[in-house]
Amino acid sequence: MKFASGHEGSLLAGAEIEKQRKDFEGYKDLVRLTPGRWLFPSAYTQYADKIYNFEHKSSDVVIMTYPKCGTTWTQEIIWTMRNNPDLNNPKDQIPLMVRAPFIEADMLVSGEQTEEDFAKNPVSQFFLKTCPDKNWRDGVYLQLSETSEEPRTIKTHLPFSLLSPSLLDTCKVVYVARNPKDVIVSYLHHSRIIKMHGYVGTFEDFVQYFVDDDLLYGPYGSHMKEAWERRDHPNLYMMFYEDMKADPYKAFKQLDVFLGTELTETQLQNIVKYTSFGEMKTRGEKQFPGDSSEHFNVDIMKKDGGFFRKGQSGDWKNKFTPESEAKVDEWIRENMTSFGVNFKYSI
Ligand code: A3P
Repeated sequence: MKFASGHEGSLLAGAEIEKQRKDFEGYKDLVRLTPGRWLFPSAYTQYADKIYNFEHKSSDVVIMTYPKCGTTWTQEIIWTMRNNPDLNNPKDQIPLMVRAPFIEADMLVSGEQTEEDFAKNPVSQFFLKTCPDKNWRDGVYLQLSETSEEPRTIKTHLPFSLLSPSLLDTCKVVYVARNPKDVIVSYLHHSRIIKMHGYVGTFEDFVQYFVDDDLLYGPYGSHMKEAWERRDHPNLYMMFYEDMKADPYKAFKQLDVFLGTELTETQLQNIVKYTSFGEMKTRGEKQFPGDSSEHFNVDIMKKDGGFFRKGQSGDWKNKFTPESEAKVDEWIRENMTSFGVNFKYSI
């Protein structure tokens, strides 16, 4: 398979896919891209060219992250800064995944989806309202991204090389990074609680998957490098989760300048509170109370927490063994420090 981005795709086969299916009980087929080693569910192949050729508008803000770097938090911050600075917009009741759609999410949910699955998805009613003439099988989230009201705020975990080559010359991109050790711990939890992943392996094995580029989305180092190389572009703003945690007001103020939202100090302070971990966790859990058992492993969630797990910097210290720390430190030296990124590992 060849994609508009120039990448070749090949399905994982033999022992490689068998190992993935054994450790990730939710996985069926996975596709690996060359160059880049990006790794996706095979349904990526249905959407790759549509996403690459997506027509961005000058008012779009694309939030780009490697998974677990603070995407959801940033979606709420940016949507609120642009659409709800006084916290009085009734649209804030609409699920975040509709207000700030995840452009490639269809690859994570498609496959054997039935009409019944579609009808049960809380996002479907919004899709039917905003895309009455469209077929959901052509991509619920992709078409929600297209038809979203301006100014659109769009989420992606894809790297620059798989998105429109004119992205940065067309609209603004906010890239959020997080230290790889906390990313691993958070990604492990995510992969255990979400049945679509269904990770049943050990922590040490998960670390190995990470350093081998064998987790969904592939190499965090290359993802970050592609953004880092573009960091001087005036339409790219890079943020670190640790800085957002350490001083959210300062981080939001800088974001306000980049976005041109011109918020007052009071508005920014209110948004800091509104998007705090505690407030987002409470709202998130209220919004989808019955959503749990079909898509999530409720037993693990009861024990280890839900999607809003801890929201801290430095929790990796409670999970890493000296061996895994040494392995990841070496990976960081080769794949991040080598081109100039330095993370904070606690705040
Ligand atoms: P932890 O698993 O370390 O708690 P993403 O949205 O990219 O999937 O990232 C999820 C991580 O961001 C999770 O980290 C989650 O708890 C954390 N998070 C979500 N909302 C947050 C908020 N308002 N403030 C800080 N962290 C938040």
